[in-house]
Amino acid sequence: MPRRSQGLPLLHLPPVTTGPGAPPRSQQVYATLRTLVLSGRVPAGARLPSTRAVAAAIGVARNTVLQAIDRLVSDGLVDCRRGSGCRVVTTRSGPLSPRAATVAHPQARHARPRAFALGLPAIDDFPVDLWARLTRRRWRAATPTLLGYGSPGGYRPLREALAQHLRDTRAVRCSWEQVIIAPGARAALAITAKAVLAARDQVWMEDPGYTPAAQLLTSEGLRVRPVPVDHEGLDIRQGRRRWPRARGAYVTPSHQFPLGLTMSLARRVDLLEWAAGADRWVFEDDYDTEFRHAGPPLASLQGLDRHDRVLYIGTMSKRLLPAIRIAYAVVPHRVLDAVLQAQIASDRHAALIDQAVLADALTEGHLARHARRMRALYAERREALLHALTTSAGDVLSVLAPEAGLHVVAWLAPGIREAAAVDAAKAARLEVRGLSTYSHRRQPAGLVLGYGAASAAQLTEATHTLASLLRRLRKRR
Ligand SMILES: Cc1ncc(COP(=O)(O)O)c(C=O)c1O
Repeated sequence: MPRRSQGLPLLHLPPVTTGPGAPPRSQQVYATLRTLVLSGRVPAGARLPSTRAVAAAIGVARNTVLQAIDRLVSDGLVDCRRGSGCRVVTTRSGPLSPRAATVAHPQARHARPRAFALGLPAIDDFPVDLWARLTRRRWRAATPTLLGYGSPGGYRPLREALAQHLRDTRAVRCSWEQVIIAPGARAALAITAKAVLAARDQVWMEDPGYTPAAQLLTSEGLRVRPVPVDHEGLDIRQGRRRWPRARGAYVTPSHQFPLGLTMSLARRVDLLEWAAGADRWVFEDDYDTEFRHAGPPLASLQGLDRHDRVLYIGTMSKRLLPAIRIAYAVVPHRVLDAVLQAQIASDRHAALIDQAVLADALTEGHLARHARRMRALYAERREALLHALTTSAGDVLSVLAPEAGLHVVAWLAPGIREAAAVDAAKAARLEVRGLSTYSHRRQPAGLVLGYGAASAAQLTEATHTLASLLRRLRKRR
């Protein structure tokens, strides 16, 4: 017999429907529990029945209930603690009314971005309610420490939580003191570059590469020097030959931007040797490796470095939202002071309450849960895009589909000019980028297509539209 709970009336849970056309079971369980919680019939603070009891009552596997509960937690409707089970969330104003919660739900509030938007995560599926609750909790309990100026390194609990996270997930070798919080990856790049390089120093930049990083380094008075990228990553031999006096290298080894390839181990070792052999520095931008769709997780370049030559940079822009503006640099002890001085001279620090909220999200497991959900969602979106590209656009586009990240590169068939393709796509309200935007060299014509922020259906439809536009362009030749 399933146990009755003080909170959810188990008897009112309808069984799931099965058969052709029925929604997935976890979706049904989620919808049922969500409706019940939002109905206000369950007092805030009431404990949910055990997942085992719910599973038995409605005839589904316990895992199905766990998935549904995970989503309720992400929505901020339920809070689960190890040992004490899951409770309906209490707000100061009592349980969320169905109306308030519906209005607050992200899908209701946001229009989806255009298909192929580059660099955007699934902003349509961000747990807005949860974030609002975590933020409200922090503001309400804010102590003077969080309301004045903070330490230039960042909010200590966040630095500690991130250090742990990076050691566990990216094999980064660091203590919490080495983690410096900055308002964005570019800000992190700016303070680290300022700290270790001098004006007019040369810096190798991947070509094709992340143009905003090149612009930032140039604006810091550095001389950016393009080095070609091949299937193994940055071509270090060419770098040594062309720009032997360079003192820095900016790389995206885990997921080269924009091509998406992974730097080979041989190249990683070579790059670290290059840096260790003189007073040189490697800026490792690890911007979106959380989302790896195949193969084992990759370790960072920083984790391989035995000579303290790597300045590791990561960001929350893909993992959560670009709007959160929290990134971090992990720096060797011997340059820590110089980086902190550079931070004081520029932004001083990122918004403190936001740092505290992120620390809570990390330590309470919300971030890990969100990443799990997003990994599944991005796998579905990527699959839909690749399927559409190969089945309906194979004659005009051939795809380079990296195993990580939130975008793919599609080469244009001979005879289709990149600029014409980009213009035609823009006119059809599709947000595609030409590969040449990211390069100093002549590249084969190609498009960079983001898939993080658009639904599978949107991507499929947009790919059909793009394919017919490209066919028209080819005919016009
Ligand atoms: C290579 C690379 N680095 C970093 C970022 C993100 O930077 P930020 O933290 O400033 O949003 C992006 C965003 O698209 C990127 O493509």
